[in-house]
Amino acid sequence: MCVRTVWCGLVGLLAVSSAALAQGASYCSVNTFPTNSSFMQFTKEPVPIEFGFEDKFKSIHCCVKGYRSIEWFKDGVAYPWSAGVSNLILYPEAANQTLYARRAARADSGNYTCRLSNETHTETHTVKLNILEKPTDAPRIMFISKDQWVEEGGELRLYCEALIGRSYLADARSDLRWRKVWPNNTVGDLLPTQTEIKTIREDVEDIIGSYLTVDRVSAQDYGTYVCVVHSNDIVSEHHVTVHYRYGGLDDGGSSSWCGSGSVPWRALALGAAAGALALVSAAALHRRCTPRLLLAARHARARAQPTARRARVLEKEFDVLVCWTAVDGELVRGALLPTLSLKYKYRVHAVLLSTQPDTWYSELVGEASRCRSLVAVLSPAQHSPQQLLTALRQLRALPLPPVVVLLQDLPKLKREAKEGGESLVSTLRGTRLVAWRHVHERAFWTALRLALPLPPAARARTDTKTNPEQDDNKNSRSGSLTALV
Ligand SMILES: *[C@@H]1O[C@H](CO)[C@@H](O)[C@H](O)[C@H]1NC(C)=O
Ligand SMILES: *[C@@H]1O[C@H](CO)[C@@H](O)[C@H](O)[C@H]1NC(C)=O
Ligand SMILES: *[C@@H]1O[C@H](CO)[C@@H](O)[C@H](O)[C@H]1NC(C)=O
Ligand SMILES: *[C@@H]1O[C@H](CO)[C@@H](O)[C@H](O)[C@H]1NC(C)=O
Ligand SMILES: *[C@@H]1O[C@H](CO)[C@@H](O)[C@H](O)[C@H]1NC(C)=O
Repeated sequence: MCVRTVWCGLVGLLAVSSAALAQGASYCSVNTFPTNSSFMQFTKEPVPIEFGFEDKFKSIHCCVKGYRSIEWFKDGVAYPWSAGVSNLILYPEAANQTLYARRAARADSGNYTCRLSNETHTETHTVKLNILEKPTDAPRIMFISKDQWVEEGGELRLYCEALIGRSYLADARSDLRWRKVWPNNTVGDLLPTQTEIKTIREDVEDIIGSYLTVDRVSAQDYGTYVCVVHSNDIVSEHHVTVHYRYGGLDDGGSSSWCGSGSVPWRALALGAAAGALALVSAAALHRRCTPRLLLAARHARARAQPTARRARVLEKEFDVLVCWTAVDGELVRGALLPTLSLKYKYRVHAVLLSTQPDTWYSELVGEASRCRSLVAVLSPAQHSPQQLLTALRQLRALPLPPVVVLLQDLPKLKREAKEGGESLVSTLRGTRLVAWRHVHERAFWTALRLALPLPPAARARTDTKTNPEQDDNKNSRSGSLTALV
């Protein structure tokens, strides 16, 4: 009986330690990068700092593939090591990617370097191992992703890992998770498209981590994230920013319009504005009159169905959301906002944007839901081609199609245009652009108002000179147009 108990205990002990070993060794086969290319590379984020505890199992790793050989060094001394250097031994079953000690000692602490080679290249990675006497209170960060540059539609993967202390106090909290930093600097939950995968190390259960992944990055995913680590109520935070990356960057010169030397920015802007107007072309009329005629026609139609229109208008709190950055504040506050609201009777909601366009989507999406239309004021000269593209992409991801008021001509980019690539040109083509000239220039206001829905006041305005039942074309010839506009 006694013999049997001892025997069972022994078998149990063996089972436990080989399970730990197998689990430690499986580290390199889980949560790997989603790639199937086979050249020599790390297969997951290489962690530079490791923690273990005295007399406890500990393993460290260099997770790689496509290599011909892998060698290990501790503080410059090549493996195998004498007992005075390190107790860690290779685990050949994991293709020499893992070192472990069944019972780690303080003296095992040090810098472990793996050196990987294929036929042509050599790479190294160093893991600083700390064997601790006892659990810590404060969290110790082991890995945090660097800032990322990701293409729209591409994949995003962030990783954060830390050693925490687990308290036995019921109300002390120890965990690690990803949060999103909102443009107003408050920290909120991730969106449903941003997936979090939590990890725990099988060798040391106080090491916890979390992957944040997005399969297809869209405008709302750019900006800053924070990895928040709680350890016995001590908090540490680590920020990572996700920026736009542009695919067209390296193919400069190959795209057709780059070859032609310069981009017809001016023509593009004017063309886009004209495109909106060309929709209804009253061929008989003088060209200058066409936009105003269109506007008049809309007002007349609105008067014809007052109730339906009024209901539609009142669904939203505001008619126009006007957004701008600080550089354009004077013009927007001094001219654009007062004219829209006082002269043209729009209910205007104003939002000041941050200077960098990467988070405009998040800054605007909530406000945009309260408004019927969106006007973004841009000074193209303030932005690089990439920032311009970022700005447009952020704006176009919003539920309201943006009307972009350009305070200057689009720059005549020649060499720089390559960087923005064709995507900038096609994005500009697909955006409603209205070129600002002067506060008293009527053509600007007509073009802008044509791009916006009618304000509620349009219905209430009574215009004695115009008979609402008249057909639009006759109306225009009657000379009452100017009264309407
Ligand atoms: C590699 O993975 C991609 C998808 O990630 C797939 O389309 C492709 O067929 C794969 N290639 C090979 C050789 O397995
Ligand atoms: C060796 O690895 C490097 C870096 O991963 C890679 O660029 C190169 O193509 C590889 N060489 C061979 C012969 O596989
Ligand atoms: C693993 O390391 C041992 C000892 O250094 C070596 O003999 C063996 O060839 C290595 N295996 C691989 C796959 O690198
Ligand atoms: C390990 O490397 C770090 C710098 O990377 C150095 O400060 C430290 O002294 C090294 N430790 C040992 C034991 O050599
Ligand atoms: C900050 O922004 C988020 C979303 O944009 C919003 O839910 C939250 O209420 C805002 N917080 C403050 C204090 O304004």
